[in-house]
Amino acid sequence: MTGSEVLKTRAGAFRHEHLDTVQSTNSELMQRARNGDPGALWLTASRQLSGRGRRGRGWMSERGNLYASLLLIDPAVQSQTGSLPLVAANAVERAIAASLPGLTRITSIKWPNDVLIEGRKVSGILLEAERLADGRLAVVIGIGVNVSICPDSAPYPVARLSDYAAGADASMLFARLFETMSEELAIWDKGAGVSHTVERWRRAAHGIGERITVNLPNAQVRGRFSGIDDDGMLRLETDEGTRMFAAGDVFFDN
Ligand code: BTN
Repeated sequence: MTGSEVLKTRAGAFRHEHLDTVQSTNSELMQRARNGDPGALWLTASRQLSGRGRRGRGWMSERGNLYASLLLIDPAVQSQTGSLPLVAANAVERAIAASLPGLTRITSIKWPNDVLIEGRKVSGILLEAERLADGRLAVVIGIGVNVSICPDSAPYPVARLSDYAAGADASMLFARLFETMSEELAIWDKGAGVSHTVERWRRAAHGIGERITVNLPNAQVRGRFSGIDDDGMLRLETDEGTRMFAAGDVFFDN
């Protein structure tokens, strides 16, 4: 399907537009924000020509998987937006779990917002924010889910939905995500409900108590992952004491 529609959920009205091909659903939505879009807009695409991942990496974007982004304008005061990655992770984890009938408790979230099936990455989330010329804050939540294809080479184990749910398809998954994201945003309540968001995230957390390596742009730090604080920062117990991280790539030491 290519076109646009307005759909109402219990948490409000969101528009949805689907395009066959874009460079990147994230880039397209940020450009629309710069051009004055009022937000609450989902954009999905069948494929991306320049799909982007975290830390400047590419994101394999061939037909068959879900590529979806949500544009929010002024979703909260800026000091509260740091917890949006957890909101997004909760929504994606629930949408994926609901797509796996009969298979319970095989999904989890790796800090901050990779969703895993049986410990293997099935989804990545890229959040981008920009202060617009008119002073509004534009936030784009970009979500990629491996539905029927997996990248050939990835620095971590990967999964695809179709190996667990025969007939899984991107539009069915998006319909679930549309609902769960709206519900998780309502729970988060512009940051006023962050404690509920953090609690929900903790219930799905992967590997609390395990030994991990946090990769930073110029360093690696090893320790025991002891959870997240009330703002969603990762807590690492190292030989030198407790360290907190707002960003970084987590690898589990097996
Ligand atoms: C990651 O590196 O784990 C994040 C990947 C995010 C990919 C999605 S696909 C839809 C949206 N558009 C993009 O260009 N990237 C995000």
